[in-house]
Amino acid sequence: MRLEKERGWMMARLALIGGTGVYDPDMLGGVKEETVSTPYGVVDIFLGTFQGVEVIFMPGHGRGHTIPPHKINYRGNIWALKELGVTKVVATAAVGSMNDAMRPGHFVAVSQFIDFTKNRPFTFFDGEDGVVVHTDFTEPYCSSIRKVIQEAAAQLHIKLHPEGCYVCVEGPRFETPAEIAAYRRLGGDIVGMTNVPEVVLAREAGLCYAVVATVTNLAAGISPTPLSHVEVDEVMKQTSENLRRLLMAVLSKLDPEGSCSCGARARE
Ligand code: HPA
Repeated sequence: MRLEKERGWMMARLALIGGTGVYDPDMLGGVKEETVSTPYGVVDIFLGTFQGVEVIFMPGHGRGHTIPPHKINYRGNIWALKELGVTKVVATAAVGSMNDAMRPGHFVAVSQFIDFTKNRPFTFFDGEDGVVVHTDFTEPYCSSIRKVIQEAAAQLHIKLHPEGCYVCVEGPRFETPAEIAAYRRLGGDIVGMTNVPEVVLAREAGLCYAVVATVTNLAAGISPTPLSHVEVDEVMKQTSENLRRLLMAVLSKLDPEGSCSCGARARE
């Protein structure tokens, strides 16, 4: 499969995928905008540097949040990162919480997911080349990046839950209280609309991938007030300085050439 081609001359790079509230590559230096052609369409990215390492910044929802979660070109985005020589990806996500300990303003180094999406292209392995691939998801997120995130948060005294189960819903509507009650019984801690299939495609592409989720609200039926995107954006703004400090500390600790088992897991 073309995704597995050698990087050749290209220097290994890191990538940051900005979710809701994270739209600008302002923590990077020398930023250039580029477009990448993929089999799934053209993808816009920013290429900059951080402490001498090349970093791609990708605003997941487009610049200024113009693409709804179910219309994001997840396959194009991950393909573009692979094409550009990215080895490790840190993503951000805004989430609601159904775990009493995970309060608005807290961060979560997500460790598991449950997929309730319905209608999105979700795999690179469509079987069109006559090959059937079943990818292992025992450990869906890169454990070495998650460790870096946990250590960085501890050093910065930022409140981060070391693990949490992300329930991914289709959106763009928020959930009903009955849905949240059900997800909670199933073991969900937080709920969002974008992490699947991003995490799935990253693993299929052999990338190391982890996500820092920001709790922006209590989930439907737990929150005393109706949910709104304004509230989500407001809390993302309030927490943006801590998220920025955390992401910068994480980027400074990641070695794009560092070895990891995520690539091998892609086709075990
Ligand atoms: N539900 C789904 N997605 C979200 C939420 C939520 O409560 N908060 C932020 N993104």
